[in-house]
Amino acid sequence: MADFLGLGLTHYPLLAGTDEHMAGLLRWTLADPDVPEAEKDPASWSPEMRAEWGDDQGRTAAAGHRKALVENLARCREALDAFAPDVVVVWGDDQYENFREEVVPPFCVLAYDDLEVHPFSLMNERGSPNAWGLPDDMTFTLRGNRDWSRTLADRLIGDGFDMAYSYRKREGSHFPHAVANTQLFLDYPHAGTEFDLPILPITVNCYGQHAIARRGGLARFAEIETEQLDPIGPTPARCMQLGAGVARALRGEDRRIALVASSSWSHAFLNDKDWHLRPDTAADLELYEALVADDRDRWRRTTGAEIVRDGQHEMLNWFCLLGAVEELGMDLSWSTMVTTDVFNSNKCFAVFEPATVTPAT
Ligand SMILES: [Fe+2]
Repeated sequence: MADFLGLGLTHYPLLAGTDEHMAGLLRWTLADPDVPEAEKDPASWSPEMRAEWGDDQGRTAAAGHRKALVENLARCREALDAFAPDVVVVWGDDQYENFREEVVPPFCVLAYDDLEVHPFSLMNERGSPNAWGLPDDMTFTLRGNRDWSRTLADRLIGDGFDMAYSYRKREGSHFPHAVANTQLFLDYPHAGTEFDLPILPITVNCYGQHAIARRGGLARFAEIETEQLDPIGPTPARCMQLGAGVARALRGEDRRIALVASSSWSHAFLNDKDWHLRPDTAADLELYEALVADDRDRWRRTTGAEIVRDGQHEMLNWFCLLGAVEELGMDLSWSTMVTTDVFNSNKCFAVFEPATVTPAT
């Protein structure tokens, strides 16, 4: 008999940096010579976007965005503490980290034991100091459990789900930021250093046709014109099936298991149709409404092409979670959506009511 909790949250890397740098991706896009000048001109933006940008390129609004994210992360942490899990299963995108030219699986169970992780390495690369004023080369221990991960992969394969697994992080690249930032942000007051729950990561090829083509997502329009697309990533419906498979694989455990989807929703830098200037908020709100209405079929009908068109690549992590909570019969107990035009992505937060589940007969 297992107990499950479901959580959805963001791993927005720029939250790990300072307010000064939080609108850095939009500033980067505004420097793309192939984005039309008229589109770059704030006069053509919505009043909301102009207000966020203000007269200081979003520096003032960054403090408000941070406050909203930190409060909602704290609410997720409260639910996690109240549930007191033995293990935290995290679905997170691999953004040209372990998934590189050598091999790109659709999904991968990271079967690692405890690892020292550099949570700020990505922000340092982007030129931002960390938000905590800590040494930029600081590490924390990300607790793992190779045996549990191995068992999960074994059961998934036995259930007909051909799951990749990894025993060693790729040398010379960042630890998947989606997983590292989940620890960092669930323990925001201590920059992840006091988080001591084991994490069982399942990385997802959210970037699909852009996995290698854009090496982690950021591309200039001149490069996009000639890019060689990779094979597509797993479909949203397949991600839901994986989530259901993970739920089945774990429901016989005598453990308390938190299931976490880690990602923001539409990303400006992946939303080609809007010149990378803003996320597709209308597309996000449509799926958010379906989330709140428990309309899982609306999610299941979403195509991979729609996901890419709307810059929602990373939402595949949430499709995994939705498949799991559906399989387990769990209800949404709280959610909220923080929208923004200037800070790259909309951020959704969700808690699914804990449920006690007996092994399938
Ligand atoms: Fe990501």
